[in-house]
Amino acid sequence: MESTILNISVIGGGYVGLVTASCFAYLGHTVRIVEIDTKKAELINKGIPPIYEEKLEDILKQTSGKNLSAQSHYEGIDDADIIFICVGTPPQDDGSADLTYITRASESIGSALKGSEKYHVITVKSTVPPGTTESVVIPAVMKSLGDTSDSVGFCMNPEFLREGRAIDDFLHPDRIVIGGSSEKAISVVQKAYEKLDALVITTSLKAAEMIKYTSNAFLATKISFSNEIGNICKRIGIDVYEVMKGVGYDHRINPYFLNAGLGFGGSCFPKDVMALIKLAEKNGENPILLKSVIDVNEQQPGRIIQVLHTRIGDIRGKRIAVLGLAFKDNTDDVRDSRSIPVIDELLTQGAIVSAFDPMATESMKKIFPDITYHTNAGDALEGADACLVLTEWPEFSKLTDEFNRMKSPVIIEGRRILSCSGIEGVCW
Ligand code: UGA
Repeated sequence: MESTILNISVIGGGYVGLVTASCFAYLGHTVRIVEIDTKKAELINKGIPPIYEEKLEDILKQTSGKNLSAQSHYEGIDDADIIFICVGTPPQDDGSADLTYITRASESIGSALKGSEKYHVITVKSTVPPGTTESVVIPAVMKSLGDTSDSVGFCMNPEFLREGRAIDDFLHPDRIVIGGSSEKAISVVQKAYEKLDALVITTSLKAAEMIKYTSNAFLATKISFSNEIGNICKRIGIDVYEVMKGVGYDHRINPYFLNAGLGFGGSCFPKDVMALIKLAEKNGENPILLKSVIDVNEQQPGRIIQVLHTRIGDIRGKRIAVLGLAFKDNTDDVRDSRSIPVIDELLTQGAIVSAFDPMATESMKKIFPDITYHTNAGDALEGADACLVLTEWPEFSKLTDEFNRMKSPVIIEGRRILSCSGIEGVCW
């Protein structure tokens, strides 16, 4: 069966937009990215990814200049069958989602489509509070098109992409969720994915928006739950990893996202759980479970400092090696990384920090310009009174002799990654 080649425009060439656009181009569609940052657009057109993401460079090389292009204006998007909105929804001071970029993108799309005879499906991929597509996106687009326009449809198609594994997640999804304003709109978006062998779930616009928040909140809850169990286990001398292994074999629970430790960071979980709490409160609910998920998460970094105290006492003037700065492995992203509150506390208490991360040094230098960064773990460990492992980089599990360079072999794992056999460490 011949597959359909669609014209797709993607508004926003950030992390989600770029991965989405590149993957759709890889699937054979003709894709245009609208990215206001001209430097980013130029890089994309040269096939150079402006961000690190595994496999992205390969895909960009195969598609850029062929069926993928980037531009910094909205001209020409009226040839698109689908226009994906992939702009940021950053948190406001109170934790609720800021929809300024969504509104602006929707208005610009409306203006660009004025007078077009073609049927377009405007599809929100950004994570937005339930109700946003109906109450913000549709009116902003229709402002230019006029309420009577039937040349557009609307969908909400959330992404479930993990940083560092986003290309694989896009190409091999557990499910594709498409919420739509009509069957017709949904069927167009479904065509964009027809080459993927994936389960498609169709819903209302609002339900699709809620599925995204609920998925992230549930995963965050699994992590905070594991951390709470881990904290109890620690008090009574039980290995929480052994416990969660035994628990995870129950298929109703499953073994994923049960790793206790420093808690969750990154640009999604903390922001999305907070936004869901705000949404609930705005609607008269008091979401105590979700609030506890955040509370547990905020306490975890302080706990590794407490463990450090029990091992080496006062840390003033002591050299502490920090292994891992990124919010998780396989990324250079330090947004909301749990290493930030840990380093902050180490510095407040007068410790000397020497750090190593395989990828995230440059990002962390912007936050802590004055700590010492090393290009390998061994140098960071040289003369250290203690070592804290803060990111689950797999290569840390291969470290052995490097620990002999420490002044005293106190190793505390904020993420379970060292083998712990042969190394006298304190596991989480
Ligand atoms: C997360 C979701 O996993 C994606 O499905 C979602 O699309 C994405 O947010 C988003 O909303 O855009 P991501 O933030 O890239 O993806 O990272 P995860 O791999 O989910 O890890 C998040 C944090 O949880 C990391 O700090 C990680 O170290 C921590 N974590 C993860 C644990 O502490 N324990 C675990 O068992 C698993």
